Amino acid sequence: MSESEQSVLLEKDGDVAILKLGSPDERVVILSEKRMESLQEALLTVGKMAQSDGLKGLVISGAHDGLFCAGADINIIRSVETVDEGQRLAKQGQEVFQILEDLPLTTVAAISGACVGGGCELVLACDYRVLVGNSSTKIGLPEVKLGILPGFGGTQRLPRLVGVQAAMDMILKGRVSPAPIALKIGLADELVDSPDQLVSRCIDIASGKRRPPAKSLGLVDKAIAKFSFVRNFVKSKIEKQVSKTTGGHYPAPAKAIEAVFRGLDDGLEAGYQREAKFLGELIVTPECKSLVHIYFLTEESSRLGKSAQERVEGTSIGVIGAGTMGAGIAASFLMSGYPVVLVDTVKEARDRARGRIEKIVSKKRSFSESKKKKCLESLTLTDDLAKFSGTGLVVEAIIEDLEIKKKVLGSIERIVGDDCVIASNTSSLSVTEIAVDLERPGNFIGMHFFNPAEKMQLVELVCGEKTSDESIAIVAALTDSLGKYPVVVQDVPGFLVNRTLTPYLVEAAYLLSEGHSVKEIDKAATKFGMPMGPLRLLDEIGLDVAAKVSEIIEAGYGVRMQGPKFAEELVAKGLFGKKSGRGFYIYPEGKGKPEVNGELFTLLEIEKAGKKCDSDTIARRLSYSLVNEAVRCLDEGVSGVPGKGAAGQIDLASVMGTGFAPFRGGIINYANSVGAEKLNKDLEEFSRLYGERFSPAKGIKERASSGGSFSV
Ligand code: NAI
Repeated sequence: MSESEQSVLLEKDGDVAILKLGSPDERVVILSEKRMESLQEALLTVGKMAQSDGLKGLVISGAHDGLFCAGADINIIRSVETVDEGQRLAKQGQEVFQILEDLPLTTVAAISGACVGGGCELVLACDYRVLVGNSSTKIGLPEVKLGILPGFGGTQRLPRLVGVQAAMDMILKGRVSPAPIALKIGLADELVDSPDQLVSRCIDIASGKRRPPAKSLGLVDKAIAKFSFVRNFVKSKIEKQVSKTTGGHYPAPAKAIEAVFRGLDDGLEAGYQREAKFLGELIVTPECKSLVHIYFLTEESSRLGKSAQERVEGTSIGVIGAGTMGAGIAASFLMSGYPVVLVDTVKEARDRARGRIEKIVSKKRSFSESKKKKCLESLTLTDDLAKFSGTGLVVEAIIEDLEIKKKVLGSIERIVGDDCVIASNTSSLSVTEIAVDLERPGNFIGMHFFNPAEKMQLVELVCGEKTSDESIAIVAALTDSLGKYPVVVQDVPGFLVNRTLTPYLVEAAYLLSEGHSVKEIDKAATKFGMPMGPLRLLDEIGLDVAAKVSEIIEAGYGVRMQGPKFAEELVAKGLFGKKSGRGFYIYPEGKGKPEVNGELFTLLEIEKAGKKCDSDTIARRLSYSLVNEAVRCLDEGVSGVPGKGAAGQIDLASVMGTGFAPFRGGIINYANSVGAEKLNKDLEEFSRLYGERFSPAKGIKERASSGGSFSV
C-alpha cells in the first residue's frame, strides 16, 4: 500500500475546513490503521483551528466524485487472532470518531459513491449527511455479512439517528441502501442531483448559511427510547425473528441486538464498551473467518474478467429461448443496462417472457420508475434470428437437445460477427460436443446460469476443448457486470455444481428409502446450515429436470451417483415438484406453507424403517457425500486452475450455487475444518455400513496419511 493510499488531505475554504479521504488517484478508500491515524491527526488539527482560526465548520468528502469510504480493511479482519486485539481495534475506531463528534463546529459529510461499514460509522459521527442521489451512491452497515458487528460506534449512533426499528433492520440484514432510501429513513439529511453541487452545498451548511430541515423520530421509536418495557418487548420480538432466520448459526446478529439495547438501557458509554467487547469476540470466530474467506473469493472472482472489462462495455446481448431460463437471463442483462434481443419461435413463449420480465423489473426496489421504463424499452422480442447481428454475446437457452442446439447455434454463428461470443446455458450436455460443427469453436463457451437466473448469483463458465481464453475473459467480465460470480469449470458431466450436488441428493433418496421421514432428512440438512433440505431442493429444481440431469451424471460416474429412482417414479405419477404443486411436499395455492406429502411412503412403496440414523449422522451422510465428490473435483482440476485457487472456486461455487452453509466457508473450507483423517475414518465406516458409494476419494485417503490440507 502506497503512502497516498493511506492519506487524508486537509484544505480550507473560507471559514470551513475540508477533509478529503484518500487521494485523487485512489479508487477505493479503506480505513487502514495508518489512515485512521492520519484521520485522528487531521481531526485534532481541525479542533485546534476551531479554537485559534475561528473555523465554523468541517466538510468531510472523498478525494473525487464517486469516492467516499468502503470501510475497514478486511485484511485486518482476516488477520486478527485474539479477542483483545479485536477489542483494541474497535476502541481505536470509537475514539477517533468520538473526536469527530466532539468537535466544536458544524460537521457535514459530503457523500458520493460507496459509504459503507466504517465509512458509514464515520458519517454517523457528523452533524449532517448530504448524499448524491445517483445510483453509485450507497450507504449502510454490511458488517454482519462478515460475521462481525459495526464496531466504531455504529450500534449506538445509528438507532439514535434513525430510530431502533430502521437501525436494526439495517444492521441485522447488513443492508446497504441507495440514497433515496437513506433520505427516507433519516440517515441522509439532503440529496443533491449531481456530484458538482455536493461540496458547495455542504460548505453552506458547515458555515452556517443554511440548515437542513430538522428531523424527529416517529412515535414508536420515541416510545422505544423512553420506556424500558417497550424496549424489552421490541428486543425479544427482534431476537425471536433473528434466531428463526439464523438458525443459531450466526452469532453476530444476536450480539448486535445486545449492544444496541445495552446502549439504550444503560447509556452510550456502556453501549460503546459492549460493542467493542463483542467485536473482539466475533472477529475471532470461525463463522467470521469463513465469511471473510467467501468475501475474498467473490473479489477474486470479479477479477477473472478484468482484461475484457472495457471490451464488454456498451455491448448488446442476444438470448435465444424465452422460457424459464431465457427470460431470467434476459432480465438480468436488461437490469444491468444492456440492450437485449430475445428470440423465440413460439409467440406464446415471447408473450409470457415479456410478462415475466416486466414483473422482475417492476420488483427492482432500487430502480426509479424512469429507469425501469428504460430497461424495458431496451428489450426486443422477436422470432427473427437476424436481429442478433451486431451483438457481442448470444446466450442460447433453448430445449436441452444436442442436435437441435447444434443446428440453431450453427445458424447463429452465420449471423453474428467474428468477435461475438456464443454461449450455451446447457445444464447437462458436453460443451465440446455442442461446438463440434462450429466454424469458430474458440468463441463458444458454456454459460451455466442457475434457476431463477435473475436471482442466483453463480454462473459456471464451462470451457470446451477449444474455448479461447479471450472468450472466458469476455463472459467473466459480463457475468461480473451482472453482479454475479463467475466460476471457471471444465466440461465434465454435471460440471462442478451439479456433479457435487448429485451424491448429496442421491444420499437423501437412500435415507428416505431406509424409512427416514422427509422432515428428518430436510431438518438435519437445515440444522447443518443448508438453506433448505435436499428433498425440498429437488422439488424446487423440478423432479423432471433433476431426473434428466441425474441420468447424465450417473452415466458419467457410475455407482456413486446411483440411488433409488424416486424423482423418476414421482414424475411418472404426475408429481413434478413445486411447479406442479406436488412432489416430496404439497404446495398450497397462494402463499401457504408447503406440507410434507403424506402419501409419499405409499407412492414410493417405502417400508417403515427399522433402525434409523440420528440427526447428526444424517447430516454427515449428506455433507460428506458433497465433500467426497468435491475433493475428486479439486484433484481432477474441474474448477479453475489447479494450484491457483481451485479450492476457492469450489468454495465459492458451493456457497453461491447450492447455498452450502456460508458460515462454514464452502465445501473445501468445511473439509479442512473437519480434517482429512476424520473424514477418511467416517467415510470408511459409512462405506461399510451404507455402501460402496461412500468409499473415500483418493485425495482424502492421501491427505489423511500425509496430514495435508485441501486448500490447493
Ligand atoms: P424452457 O422449456 O422453459 O424454454 C425453452 C424455450 O426455448 C421455449 O420457450 C421454446 O419455445 C424455445 N425454443 C425451443 N427451440 C427453439 C428454437 N429453435 N429457436 C428459438 N426458440 C426455441 O426451458 P428452460 O428450462 O428455460 O431451459 C433452457 C435451457 O437451459 C436448457 O438447455 C436447460 O438444460 C438449461 N437450464 C435449465 C435450468 C432450469 O432449471 N430450468 C437450469 C439451468 C440450465
